[in-house]
Amino acid sequence: STVLDLAVIEGDGIGHEVVPQGLRVLEAALEGSGIEVRTTGYDLGAGRWHRTGETLTDQDMEALAQHDAIVLGAVGDPDVPSGVLERGLLLKLRFGFDHFVNLRPTRLVPGVSSPLADPGEVDFLVVREGTEGPYVGNGGAMRVGTDLEVATEVSLNTAVGVERVVRYAFAQAERRRKKLTLVHKHNVLVHAGHLWRRIVERVGAEHPDVAVDYAHVDAATIYMVTDPSRFDVIVTDNLFGDILTDLAAAIGGGIGLAASANINPTGDFPSMFEPVHGSAPDIAGQGLADPTATVLSVALLLDHLGHAEAAGRVRAAVDADLAVRADLGARSTSEVGNALVAAVRSA
Ligand code: NAD
Ligand code: IPM
Ligand code: MN
Repeated sequence: STVLDLAVIEGDGIGHEVVPQGLRVLEAALEGSGIEVRTTGYDLGAGRWHRTGETLTDQDMEALAQHDAIVLGAVGDPDVPSGVLERGLLLKLRFGFDHFVNLRPTRLVPGVSSPLADPGEVDFLVVREGTEGPYVGNGGAMRVGTDLEVATEVSLNTAVGVERVVRYAFAQAERRRKKLTLVHKHNVLVHAGHLWRRIVERVGAEHPDVAVDYAHVDAATIYMVTDPSRFDVIVTDNLFGDILTDLAAAIGGGIGLAASANINPTGDFPSMFEPVHGSAPDIAGQGLADPTATVLSVALLLDHLGHAEAAGRVRAAVDADLAVRADLGARSTSEVGNALVAAVRSA
């Protein structure tokens, strides 16, 4: 039988609660398929850092690289200095495994309420660049703590790095409603902005059937709230994509539903699947976290590894559950997991 060999990083906070539910649904979706799910847990996050001072070692990276894919919950802890785990663990994985495509779909499912009174059709895909931009750590600080302190965070944008993610975004647009919106800020960030604009123009010429649009990031936040149906595929840099996808999550029914995939399309390294949300220390340990975002991230994993049928059943199960949620009242993390496991078995 075929084996699906997964690395599992629960991470911190609600990562410990949502990941087990995601894996239950994954196994239910593959029951009877002849595909055996094998999982290996990795102890990474705040606990390990407190005990050993390590975030993610070279040996960890080598071991993780052997798996078919990685499932991650979230990292970040109030008792660890901000940035240590985010940069040293999560970003080290995204950069080290060259996850240059960060896919973040938003789809407002019938029956789910949005904070928008009249959202219309909300079904778009943010293709966020994952390995460049202001995230590279290119910067520094001088005279820290003094009145003369200087801090820089320099955004890195390479022609190769921009072109590869733009090509991926056009390919997605071809498979969807054939519209691509570049979001940037080329009226101010002229160096990076015009690089992105020129590459979108050049690659766009190879896709004459894809309508290309542009919005400055500030205006894009307006349209996302006033007219989200104008978006199909959005391609944007690492930081704009981070911010826009939390907004997208909010209009798509909440951060508890927002899934993501960090993809290395070359297949040189395992791709990584995680909810958009963080470790949510404000609700951690209480069974309040919604595992749906992790479950939908597992559907992206199944798609990525060629199990489209199982992925479709996971999404159908989520849709069915979302359709009745409003009537059910508050449920715990494991109650939602139970419902999704049952729904996937009957989907
Ligand atoms: P967050 O996403 O953890 O939480 C934002 C808000 O959303 C909180 O009110 C939280 O309770 C709520 N929320 C998040 N996930 C939820 C879920 N599944 N169900 C119900 N409610 C949910 O963002 P934050 O508070 O800015 O960050 C907390 C920590 O997580 C920080 O250390 C941050 O660096 C880290 N973080 C990690 C990731 C990641 O690992 N991918 C993503 C974002 C933030
Ligand atoms: C996300 C998170 C991360 C990001 C942080 C924790 C590094 O906010 O996955 O959206 O900014 O990419
Ligand atoms: Mn984010």
